[in-house]
Amino acid sequence: MRLSVIGCGYVGLVTGACLAEAGHEVMCTDIDSARIAQLKAGGVPIYEEHLEEVLASARKGGRISYTNDTGEAIRFGEAIFICVGTPPREDGSADLSAIDHVAQQIAAQAEGSKLVVEKSTVPARTGVELRRALTAYSRGGNISFDVVSNPEFLREGTAVFDFFHPDRIVVGVDNESAGERMREIYQPILEHKFRCPVHQGPCPAESKVEFLVTTINSAELIKHASNSFLALKISYANVIADLCEKLDGNVEQVTHAMGLDARIGGQFLKAGLGFGGFCFPKDIQAFIQLSSSVGVDFEILKAAERVNKARIDRFLQKVNKALWVVRGKRIAVLGLAFKANTDDIRFSPAIEVIRRLMDEGAQVHASDPEAIEKAKNALPGVTFHTDPYEATRDAHAALVCTEWSAFKNLDWERVGKLMARKLVVDGRNLYSPKKMADFGFEYYSFGRG
Ligand code: UGA
Repeated sequence: MRLSVIGCGYVGLVTGACLAEAGHEVMCTDIDSARIAQLKAGGVPIYEEHLEEVLASARKGGRISYTNDTGEAIRFGEAIFICVGTPPREDGSADLSAIDHVAQQIAAQAEGSKLVVEKSTVPARTGVELRRALTAYSRGGNISFDVVSNPEFLREGTAVFDFFHPDRIVVGVDNESAGERMREIYQPILEHKFRCPVHQGPCPAESKVEFLVTTINSAELIKHASNSFLALKISYANVIADLCEKLDGNVEQVTHAMGLDARIGGQFLKAGLGFGGFCFPKDIQAFIQLSSSVGVDFEILKAAERVNKARIDRFLQKVNKALWVVRGKRIAVLGLAFKANTDDIRFSPAIEVIRRLMDEGAQVHASDPEAIEKAKNALPGVTFHTDPYEATRDAHAALVCTEWSAFKNLDWERVGKLMARKLVVDGRNLYSPKKMADFGFEYYSFGRG
């Protein structure tokens, strides 16, 4: 099928590339002309595992193209995937102006009927408003628009894997034929008919992908409810970690045993610095805002947000207690990205930790396998090292903020010889306290005594 993608951020890039790899013809556009130029020249604007190969293969097969001309992209596809940003406004609610702008362009430029697919994360009722807007902006023209909500559940860092191996595909529609056309788009994934970019041979046997057809409002709620629930789990584990510190428990033993109960599940119970990124923090706020606007008090979610914000305070308390005086100390920070396998630093706990250390007068030396370029603008005054060992040279403390495997596998004997003081504060519980003690380190982490 011919498909258009509007917005080449991480969701648009991955969606466009993977749909092309699955056999569709895809045209992508973005208002950022530098980004389109980079893509046309064969570049990839973000670091995302397997994306480069998928894009190269789709390009080679002539199935993906890029244009600055939004009208051209709109006219190209039978279905148009809207993947523009919905950043938070000051009150936490989602700013939907980019979606409204795209609706005006679609109404003005479309020459035939279109399936308009809302991929951006939006509050419930956006699809209904989008349909109303498309009708209003096309001023009685005879082109019909079907609006579909098709939330994405892609995790940054594993987005290509997630696209080809989803647990479920949700499509919110208001008529049966729109649901059928969406099923056609996802047919290669549902029938597992694609060349998997992740696995060398056949993909490991997996359970059948659920294709769920719901109402538009339900689909939008499914996205917010899922992200919020995962955030709740993380905050819950973090409170358990605090309790373990007070009551001499070990959070890993507790959450591991909890997770073995199939009703709970073991994922998203990792305690530490808390959640960041451009999804959870903003989605939670938008969901709280949406709930209060319809008179529902989402107290439990507000608590999860409060717990998460306090993680950075707790981490810095550990640093302050260990170092006694922070001013003038040289501190190595391992990790800038909000999680491993991405170069995304938006709402990254590491960035906030560094800002606060700098405010206290520390000299920060930071390292990250992918995010240094993006962090440079955000953190003037920090010295960056591509080599993590160089970051730890002469440091009075090393702080672990992101769970990169490169940091998991550091040679701590070597690090110990480089540092001015053998002190590690681990915000991601990456190492065994016993092993760190054996290496002669003073070692602090979350919820493990
Ligand atoms: C999240 C969801 O997992 C995706 O399903 C969703 O599609 C995406 O948001 C989105 O809305 O676009 P993402 O933000 O990429 O994906 O990252 P996650 O892997 O969910 O991690 C979020 C944060 O939680 C990270 O800062 C991570 O370090 C933290 N985390 C995660 C924990 O602190 N503990 C855990 O046990 C798991």
